[in-house]
Amino acid sequence: MSSNKKLFIQTLGCQMNDTDSQHIASELEKHKDYTQTEQIEDADLIIINTCSVREKPVQKLFSEIGQFNKKKKDGAKIGVCGCTASHLGKDIIKRAPYVDFVVGARNISKIKDVVDVKGAVEIAIDNDESMYEFAAAKTNKYRASVNISVGCDKKCTYCIVPNTRGEEISIPPEMIVKQVQNAVDEGAVEVMLLGQNVNSYGRRFSDKRPKYSFTKLLQDVSKIEKLKRIRFTSPHPLHMDDEFIEEFAKNEKISRCIHMPLQSGSTSILRAMKRGYTKEWFLNRAAKMRELVPNLRITTDIIVAFPGETDEDYQDTLDVVRKVGFDQVFNFKYSPRPETAALELKEQEIPDEIGSARLTELIELHKRHLEQEMPKLIGSTVNILVESLKPNGEISGYTDNYLQVFAKGSDDLLGKFVDVKVTDVTRTALKGEVIA
Ligand code: SAH
Ligand code: SF4
Ligand code: F3S
Repeated sequence: MSSNKKLFIQTLGCQMNDTDSQHIASELEKHKDYTQTEQIEDADLIIINTCSVREKPVQKLFSEIGQFNKKKKDGAKIGVCGCTASHLGKDIIKRAPYVDFVVGARNISKIKDVVDVKGAVEIAIDNDESMYEFAAAKTNKYRASVNISVGCDKKCTYCIVPNTRGEEISIPPEMIVKQVQNAVDEGAVEVMLLGQNVNSYGRRFSDKRPKYSFTKLLQDVSKIEKLKRIRFTSPHPLHMDDEFIEEFAKNEKISRCIHMPLQSGSTSILRAMKRGYTKEWFLNRAAKMRELVPNLRITTDIIVAFPGETDEDYQDTLDVVRKVGFDQVFNFKYSPRPETAALELKEQEIPDEIGSARLTELIELHKRHLEQEMPKLIGSTVNILVESLKPNGEISGYTDNYLQVFAKGSDDLLGKFVDVKVTDVTRTALKGEVIA
């Protein structure tokens, strides 16, 4: 549809925010005739979809919107959406009066109603969007993301997300299956199922139906014939029961890469974080996954310098990192967040230089691990879904265990699964030659 109204949207934060941004864009296209632009200067509407999980992205919000305000064309509007919108609400407009509206992370479906209302603030975290039919969110032609729940019922003591996205409500399985089917009908072969805690799926629906389980949902989705790969994030290590691990192992459509957010390797810190599992449980689950799933890659999130983290606690984290041999690690330094229980531990906060040193050591440890492990793949053959072709004639795609691969190729390979012989590696990707 041609339109003369242009939307520029910038996304901070997690994959759920990426999907929300796509929902915002498609709602505005469908109901308000906006098309997207990459140029701020051309935009009639500039939206920033924010993250508040750590202090840094919140600071970034205010510097970014200041820039937007300078660059925008006359009469262009600015909207702030997402998690920081949820928790700062109208204070954003107080601090930056040129902001036209604020829409929280759980109010995305209202975007079409507020976009023309100067000063509108929609941030209720009890808004239920679990039955709202958003258009499928496509990462590219071959991949789609589908939300399976909204909100989070956990109370991890460091985390602001339950306060920005509200309580957990599952999206009905038939709606999820329909969304995935629609994406597949449009050419997707891979789907990413998204939720803050995917394996607690099915405990509460807004229409009070009986409970369901994530394992059952995986079975439902995998029945979609032309769908080849299923990915999901984030599972919670506590809910990785045997039934789930066994389904993961035997369901061939499930990508051989799992995110297991450790947060800390120390049982006493895990208790203070209210994660609900111990160091031993985590190691046991990771070992069981590795035992049942050949070629599995495990990724994780780690927070260092949580209040009260002693050197011994930190050594426990290093110990788990060494034992599990994570394939990718997202490391964070603890960042105190408003309205979280960990604020009560203020007097036990760890000096910043200790936090930074721990972070650096952890990053180095993981780098060395990758430098040791990745070259072992040289000479092997991997199968990839070809997703893009760069102007230099290189194709790019991902293996079933989610490693990025580059090789010389051509556009007739796009959307196909091909074998690649690995000739070179970096710490995070493979290079090779297409052999079939
Ligand atoms: N629901 C997801 C995580 C969402 S937040 C899950 O449980 O896996 C993404 C990551 O940010 C978390 O896994 C955690 O490692 C990190 N994080 C959350 N709150 C934080 C804080 N206050 N300080 C530092 N890192 C934090
Ligand atoms: Fe935050 Fe914990 Fe919920 Fe993840 S599971 S969003 S870390 S409260
Ligand atoms: Fe995601 Fe950040 Fe919100 S990590 S859930 S966008 S606070």
